[in-house]
Amino acid sequence: MRQFLAAVAAGALLLGAGGASAKETVIKFSHVVAEKTPKGQAALKFKEEAEKLLPGKVKVEVYPNSQLFGDAKEMEALALGDVHIIAPSLSKFNRFTKKLQVFDLPFLFDDIAAADRFQASPKGQELLTSMASKGFVGLAYWHNGTKQLSATKALLVPDDAKGLKFRVQPSDVLAAQFQAVGAVPQKLAFAEVYQALQVGTVDGQENTWSNIYSQKYQEVQKHFTESNHGLIDYMVVVNAGWWKGLPKDVQAGLTKAMAAATKVNNDIANNLNEEAKKKVAAASGVTIHQLTPQQRSAWKKAMAPVWSKFEGEIGKDLIQAAQTANATN
Ligand code: LMR
Repeated sequence: MRQFLAAVAAGALLLGAGGASAKETVIKFSHVVAEKTPKGQAALKFKEEAEKLLPGKVKVEVYPNSQLFGDAKEMEALALGDVHIIAPSLSKFNRFTKKLQVFDLPFLFDDIAAADRFQASPKGQELLTSMASKGFVGLAYWHNGTKQLSATKALLVPDDAKGLKFRVQPSDVLAAQFQAVGAVPQKLAFAEVYQALQVGTVDGQENTWSNIYSQKYQEVQKHFTESNHGLIDYMVVVNAGWWKGLPKDVQAGLTKAMAAATKVNNDIANNLNEEAKKKVAAASGVTIHQLTPQQRSAWKKAMAPVWSKFEGEIGKDLIQAAQTANATN
C-alpha cells in the first residue's frame, strides 16, 4: 500500500512538472511568421489562455517561422492531422475555395476597419465554413494589415513596375494584379522570399510592415512604397474532424482561448506595423516613398481589371458585400 501511494505521489509530481497525462491533448499550432508579429504574438496568447482554461487537459505547442511546416506543407499537414491549428493568410486558400480570393482584390478595403466589418458580417462569417467539405473549418479571422510594395527601384507610378519580377503568395488574383501593371509575378513560399530578393530571383515584393521588418527585407530592398494597396489577414483553421472529435468542454475552452487571442492580435496589429515601419525607415539606405493622390489613383486604375477577371469565380454578391463594408463609417 505504501509503495502504491508513493507511486501515485511520484506520478502526481511528474504531472505537476509538466508530464503529459493520458487525457492531455497535445495541440500543434504551426505558422510561418516571426514571433514578434501580430500572428506570432496571438498564437502565444492562444497557448497561454488555452492552458490556463484547460489545465492538464491541453498542451499547446506553437511552431513559428515555418519551423515545422512551410506554406504548402502546413495545409497538407492539417489535412493529415499532423498539425491541429494553422493560420495562413487569406491569399493561401486558393486550392480549397475560390471565394476567399475576394480578400486579394487590389484596393478593395479603405482600411482594416472595413475589412473587419466585412469579416464580422453574415457573408464574412459564412466564409469561415466555405472549406468544410474539404475538411477545414475556420475559427477566427486575425488581422495583420495593409501591404506595401518594395523593389530594387522607386515605385511611384504603375509603369515603374513594368518588367520587374515580384514575389507573390500562391494567389491567382495577386499574380494578375502584377500582370496588370506589366510586371512578372512569381509565386514563392514565405520562407524563400528573403533569399530570392537577395540573389535577384525576384526584384520586388508586397507585404505588411511587420512582416517586412521581421524578415529583414530592408537589408535587401532599398525602395519601399507606402501603397496600402491590399490586405494581409488570416483565417485560423482547424481540421474539422479533429475539432468535432474534441470533448465538449475542451472545445468550449479552446473557443474562449481563441476569442482572447483574436482580441490581442487585433489590438496589437496596428501598433506592431507602425513600429516596424519606423524601424524599416531607419535602416541604412532605405527610402520609403509616399504616393500623391494622383499616383495612388493611377495604381488603382491600372489594377482595376483584376476585379472583373475574377468576378465570376468569387461572385458578384460577395464583392459587393465587401465593398459595402467601406461605406459603413
Ligand atoms: C506571406 O506569405 O507573405 C504571408 O502570408 C506570411 C504571413 O503569414 O503573414
